[in-house]
Amino acid sequence: MSQPVAHTVLVNGERHSVTVQPEMPLLWVLREVLQLPGTRFGCGMALCGTCTVWLDGVPSRACVLPIGRVGTRHVVTIEGLHAPVHTPEVARVTHAVEAAWTDGNVAQCGYCQSGQVMTAVALLRDNPAPTDADIDRAFDGVLCRCGTSPRVRAAVRAAALSAAESLKTDAPPSST
Ligand code: FES
Ligand code: FES
Repeated sequence: MSQPVAHTVLVNGERHSVTVQPEMPLLWVLREVLQLPGTRFGCGMALCGTCTVWLDGVPSRACVLPIGRVGTRHVVTIEGLHAPVHTPEVARVTHAVEAAWTDGNVAQCGYCQSGQVMTAVALLRDNPAPTDADIDRAFDGVLCRCGTSPRVRAAVRAAALSAAESLKTDAPPSST
């Protein structure tokens, strides 16, 4: 077993120094060391998506990534979706996803939902009008044991529509 060493990690726009073994999964650094419990443990084998965070904006499985391999990449957790480091587009999509999740009563036990929401916001940030196939691809391997997947997909479609509407409302008036 390795000795603990100091690692600098950038999480939700803030730099932290943590002294842990390099093979400790990022998930445990987030939950146990940095006290960010919104990212959950499901399978521990990159199979369920419950532990999804963003690494430089890319949805990634924190349960299988050793802290020693995170490097300088920016980690964003569910707690950091409203951090001021994000673009206005991320803020817009985050609000749309949160509203759609509430309106659609998406969560059941809630356990998997942070992974679902991190996946949804990343999808709509990169693809404002996803097809059903795009949604299925993005959520492939993001599992819900309560069976909320149909509501997740409906909420993603609703959030895409409301984010597009809010973009129109916020658009500066045309000069012509
Ligand atoms: S806990 Fe990481 S993918 Fe299941
Ligand atoms: S809401 Fe219960 S596991 Fe997904």
